Amino acid sequence: MSRTVYVNGEYLPEQDAKISIFDRGFLMADGVYEVTSVIDGKLVDFDGHARRLERSLRELDMAAPVDMDELLTIHRELVARNDLVEGGVYLQITRGAPADRDFAFPDPAEVPPTLVLFTFAKNLTTAPAAQTGIAVISIDDLRWGRRDIKTVQLLYPSMGKMMAKAQGAEDAWLVEDGFVTEGTSNNAYIVKGNRIITRELSNDILHGITRAAVLCLASEAQFEIEERPFTIAEAQDADEAFVTSATTFVQPVVSIDGAVIGSGKPGPVAQRLREIYIDESRKSAI
Ligand code: PDD
Repeated sequence: MSRTVYVNGEYLPEQDAKISIFDRGFLMADGVYEVTSVIDGKLVDFDGHARRLERSLRELDMAAPVDMDELLTIHRELVARNDLVEGGVYLQITRGAPADRDFAFPDPAEVPPTLVLFTFAKNLTTAPAAQTGIAVISIDDLRWGRRDIKTVQLLYPSMGKMMAKAQGAEDAWLVEDGFVTEGTSNNAYIVKGNRIITRELSNDILHGITRAAVLCLASEAQFEIEERPFTIAEAQDADEAFVTSATTFVQPVVSIDGAVIGSGKPGPVAQRLREIYIDESRKSAI
């Protein structure tokens, strides 16, 4: 069945949605995005995603096509029109389509930004990978230096997922100067006893919205949080490992570069955090 998608003010069947070949998202990867999860037909942590989007736009000197209230309305309208119960809403804003290809940014008064949203259905709350855990490999982090901005430059993360697949794993953890930065599309954690260790926020990683919620809930549940870099060797020696993102929630990791983590099965801390996160998201989704 065809989805209804949103393009620059219009709700359209997906096959009728069109973007210019001069769009800077297409030519320059000059665009930012957000993925907001949907459970029970409601948006999880919309405010967090909206705030991060505003920050991404500000950092790139890009204009917002609509205000955040309007954005919420569009998200809800798309969820309703597509009868979406569980999955997510993908949003992308680019610097628009000037008359020609040019490295210089166009004048925002002349070239309006492009705004696209679409929904996707996905099993989030009972995903089979959460029961089994996933295998990850480690690869060099070759991305640019502003990973805190959620841009659509996703070629290297895509290559990372392909490298993982070629080795029979599901994902890759990125390593820079000997320390794990994050996963290709998620934040990375290890567990030692009652302590959850994850890299501190900086320009080196995306400031995950799920990360913020999970750390807050973990602290309320009396876990200790240590925000610092860790190595692959330390992760391989940890009791547990997991990743978080809007499309996986809390996802246990059971092997890293072939080394089995803990029992080789999803650990109790990751499972507990996943449960708490899903419960709380059901309560707070709007
Ligand atoms: N990815 N780090 C990176 C590099 C990411 O791409 C993502 C999200 C995260 C987790 O952020 P959040 O918890 O706000 O989803 C961390 C999204 C889901 C994606 O690209 O599909």
